[in-house]
Amino acid sequence: MTITQEDELDGLKDIGRIVANTLRAMAKAMEPGMTTRELDEIGRAFLERHGAESAPQSAYDFPGATCISVNEEIAHGIPGERIIAQGDLVNIDVSASKDGFFADTGASYRVGPAHPLLDKLCRDGKRAMQIGIGQVAEGKPLAGIGNAIGKFADERGYTLIRNLASHGVGRSLHEYPEEIATWPNRSDRRRIDTGLVLTVEPFLSTGGLWASDGEDGWTLYAEPCAPVVQYEHTIVATSRGAIILTQPG
Ligand code: CO
Ligand code: CO
Repeated sequence: MTITQEDELDGLKDIGRIVANTLRAMAKAMEPGMTTRELDEIGRAFLERHGAESAPQSAYDFPGATCISVNEEIAHGIPGERIIAQGDLVNIDVSASKDGFFADTGASYRVGPAHPLLDKLCRDGKRAMQIGIGQVAEGKPLAGIGNAIGKFADERGYTLIRNLASHGVGRSLHEYPEEIATWPNRSDRRRIDTGLVLTVEPFLSTGGLWASDGEDGWTLYAEPCAPVVQYEHTIVATSRGAIILTQPG
């Protein structure tokens, strides 16, 4: 959506805070030995308590309140009987709506002490997202996001998953201006309007190039197989830059 009124910003900030707090609560509660379903239940209860509705569930009939993807799974993992273990890399993605406004956030976490290369990948994944967000302001090219992230990834020898795009959000989970590349894309000539609400969510990897479907119809896996992290904020473009809506608080 493109915000034109102050009360729209208030509504987005409200759901933005709720999804960010949900993500934080889930990350805090995560521990080895717990199933991804148990972790999802914490998220589901948190959303409910704050009057929010899971977006993947309401929009796509996703079989869970949140998406939880472990190790070789990179996105849209279904919460279930899988047991989270020490050293795992777990991505949690929380999107939800309240009063007709949608927000979307996600992050990757290491469970307990992990391989130092995973620590570095997580740090750089967060940086890649921040670099993308830094390209967002009124009048700037949308493709600037992917160009800047691509340059950062290239310089450090990382790859980017090239078929999982960022997207417009606000009045629904995925909307205008539809797909926004977080990798270099020369053919995109669109510019950013003031008030545009979008996500920035690069998938940074040490070798993965695209996401492929699993057998359950939801879970996505990296091809070639390699660790992948994703960090995601919902933001709004202004003349001065981006306002991050998915801040805990
Ligand atoms: Co998301
Ligand atoms: Co998203």
